[in-house]
Amino acid sequence: MATTEHEQVISGLEGVLACESSVSFIDGPNGVLIYRGHDIHGLAEQATFEEVVFLLWHGRLPTRPELANFAGELVRRRTAPPEVLRLLEMLPATAHPMAALRTAVSAIGALDPRQEDTSREANLEKATRLVAVMPTLVAAMHRQRLGQAPVAPDPGLSHAANFLYMLTGERAADDSVRAVDTALILYADHELNASTFTARTTTSTQSDLYSAVVAGIAALKGPLHGGAVDDALRLFQEIGSVEAVPAFADRALAEKRKVPGFGHRVYRTADPRARHLKTMAQTLSHAAGDTRWYDIAIALEQALYERKRLNANVDYYASLVLYHLGFPLNLFTAFIVCSRVAGWCAHILEQQANNRLIRPRARYTGPVGVPFVPLQERG
Ligand SMILES: CC(C)(COP(=O)(O)OP(=O)(O)OC[C@H]1O[C@@H](n2cnc3c(N)ncnc32)[C@H](O)[C@@H]1OP(=O)(O)O)[C@@H](O)C(=O)NCCC(=O)NCCS
Repeated sequence: MATTEHEQVISGLEGVLACESSVSFIDGPNGVLIYRGHDIHGLAEQATFEEVVFLLWHGRLPTRPELANFAGELVRRRTAPPEVLRLLEMLPATAHPMAALRTAVSAIGALDPRQEDTSREANLEKATRLVAVMPTLVAAMHRQRLGQAPVAPDPGLSHAANFLYMLTGERAADDSVRAVDTALILYADHELNASTFTARTTTSTQSDLYSAVVAGIAALKGPLHGGAVDDALRLFQEIGSVEAVPAFADRALAEKRKVPGFGHRVYRTADPRARHLKTMAQTLSHAAGDTRWYDIAIALEQALYERKRLNANVDYYASLVLYHLGFPLNLFTAFIVCSRVAGWCAHILEQQANNRLIRPRARYTGPVGVPFVPLQERG
């Protein structure tokens, strides 16, 4: 049935330009990713996560005083409300960690007296609170599941160092802190991916920032998006040995199985983020004297490239990085939330500044003119 002047349905909205954005850019054919004009490689190698969050929200890198001020604001907002920690405790151990995190963020929003204030100033404050508190929530969830009390944030530590500290209760080595910083930077934004589009769509209805972030978490949870990161590690465990890789690759492709950590909607070559994570995975697994999963990962990457020119994406080696940094498998996707919340908030701010309701159409494929049969005549 005719519904609109544009009759063609674009499956999965592939290649559709849904908005203008100056937050990040992906050059898919050439494997380039930039945040606000900065190539991802320079940021991954030299910046801190705090600098990158400022960059995403303000469009430029901070000066030294601005960075000190912003880092201080993050530190001051690290503590999770006690009501939210109690709420997390009330959830059953069977709750999916992303469902628990989604619930906690929703509660943080409901507790904020300024929840409905959508001014840029209020939204920047909310965004700062969410970036600051997310690792506290994730670390608390981890410790609760181990039957341990949460570790209070340490104001003397950087965002990345404090994340590891709250997770383990111990000060982490500089190398581990740098690895967390780099992983947080690499995941911080990625143009109009499914969760960011979801957050922008929610914002386009003039809903509040917390609701948009909760919507983003809900979209990120799925295995085709952020859920792929823990599936990738499970895959290495399922394959079990390097020798089993060729048969696995043949079988997976014959069964048309979507192998977690491979493929991408936009990149037509290597995912530029994967390069850094691969190097980090190699370093961390060798330092741990445990290269079991890394060796399988290398063999599988080669096998799937040879057979189908499939490239590993960001989640593939991130799974190994998070594993060796001591993150529990069931919190890998929650780690991504700690990073991507920065990008979601940048897009929410941008959407609000130039908003129009996002409301596409569907091509109707159902029947028309179906007569109404009264209930008593329907049997
Ligand atoms: C990310 C993803 C959803 C993109 O999907 P998409 O853009 O719709 O890509 P398509 O499903 O059209 O794939 C194109 C081709 O590559 C193949 N392909 C893509 N990703 C694949 C994967 N992970 N494993 C095996 N084959 C894959 C498809 O089977 C298809 O092959 P065909 O043309 O012979 O049918 C998809 O690659 C995927 O499911 N990956 C695994 C999950 C994942 O790692 N997600 C995190 C992304 S950062």
